[in-house]
Amino acid sequence: MPDSNSPAAVVAVVMGSGSDWETMRHAVELLARLGVPAEHRIVSAHRTPELMADFAREAASCGVRVIIAGAGGAAHLPGMIAAHTWLPVLGVPVESKALHGLDSLLSIAQMPAGVAVGTLAIGASGAKNAALLAASIIGLSDAKVRAAVEAFRHDQTSAVLAQRLE
Ligand code: RP5
Repeated sequence: MPDSNSPAAVVAVVMGSGSDWETMRHAVELLARLGVPAEHRIVSAHRTPELMADFAREAASCGVRVIIAGAGGAAHLPGMIAAHTWLPVLGVPVESKALHGLDSLLSIAQMPAGVAVGTLAIGASGAKNAALLAASIIGLSDAKVRAAVEAFRHDQTSAVLAQRLE
């Protein structure tokens, strides 16, 4: 969570369990690098259902503009949050032990028509891309964040072009 001096979060990163942190920290770290004010916390759809509903209902009025939700296994957190808010919700399938995240991916991606969840790749790649996508959305109305996304992409391209294979 941000300290009291942090600007108000425009992106909220939530996850179903502390065991998701090693994946979801990649989203939090990239948002920080891009200068996007963000908060992060554990919110579980099945272990803290009232907290989840309150969080989702109140997020927009607190200034949040995009929610990134990571979960593994049955992974109903992104869909359940989306059911309680009009904000865009980006779902990150966390790699599960039993099915390597395929369960998480299908649970998050296969939302029936009517409530949308944008689904990213399984694991760290999905967490990083969720941050990039959230920053692009925020960048629609924030020139500083848009410039940071463009700089990230430029630096990434330069790094690839500079690679030499021995
Ligand atoms: C989900 O169950 C969480 O998102 C996590 O990925 C998975 C396992 O949770 P733990 O048993 O590790 O707390 O709710």
